[in-house]
Amino acid sequence: MKKLENKKAEEKHEERKSGWKIAFIILLIVLLITFGYSILRYNVFKGVGIEHLPLYISNKALALAATIMIGLSFLLGPLCRFSKRIVPKLYLRKYIGLLGFGIAAIHGVISLLLFNPAYYQKFFAETGKLTLEGELSMLFGILAIFIFAAISITSIPSVESGLHPKQWKFIQRSGYLAYLLVLLHVLVMGFSGWFDASKWPGGMYPITLVAFSFIVFVLLIRVIVMIFPKKEN
Ligand code: HEM
Repeated sequence: MKKLENKKAEEKHEERKSGWKIAFIILLIVLLITFGYSILRYNVFKGVGIEHLPLYISNKALALAATIMIGLSFLLGPLCRFSKRIVPKLYLRKYIGLLGFGIAAIHGVISLLLFNPAYYQKFFAETGKLTLEGELSMLFGILAIFIFAAISITSIPSVESGLHPKQWKFIQRSGYLAYLLVLLHVLVMGFSGWFDASKWPGGMYPITLVAFSFIVFVLLIRVIVMIFPKKEN
């Protein structure tokens, strides 16, 4: 009995180790792409000074990376339908999602640090107060991060084991609501700039539009999977 328990604990340990390792590699690739995109769009084509790379530009890359990581963790389940080879990789959902939440939290902190009209003129009226778009967009971001935090806490094994499976599933599923809130977060802040391509630096899509499209794609796949449930053999 003890031997079996030890074996199970060892397997779990190995799974955790490889889960974090693979998720970190995926994060690295995603960060490489999002940093490349942000630097090219803002530093190279828009001419934003390199002194704003550490926080202002990085924050854009981190925001997009968080959106992609969380989306990837949502995609793994539905993708199993299309390829059986994904099934053994399903355990990665947790690690990719947790890293995504971690990056989103960093994005939230950096945003609050820079939150003034000098950086984000688009959110402020001339009175120095936030516009309706500014307030709404921030509200959606804050609500999303709150739900992602709850999901991440329930991923801690001791918390998970204290919950009824139905409760746990309900909290995990609320991730889709949080993702929808992120969609509203970027839609409200970016919408007005999506239709005048002549203003896009280097002709590159706004990051809000890239994030929006990715979220729509992830949620659409989820809806398709819900409409066509798995046939039991
Ligand atoms: C405390 C919560 C949050 C706050 C205060 C916040 C704040 C902000 C701010 C100020 C911006 C504008 C950045 C810019 O134009 O440079 C922004 C953009 C963005 N946020 Fe958030 N956010 C929060 C949560 C989230 C979450 C949870 C996600 C995704 C998982 C997210 C994804 C994005 C994306 C993709 C952008 C577009 C970046 C760009 O266009 O440059 N945010 N957020």
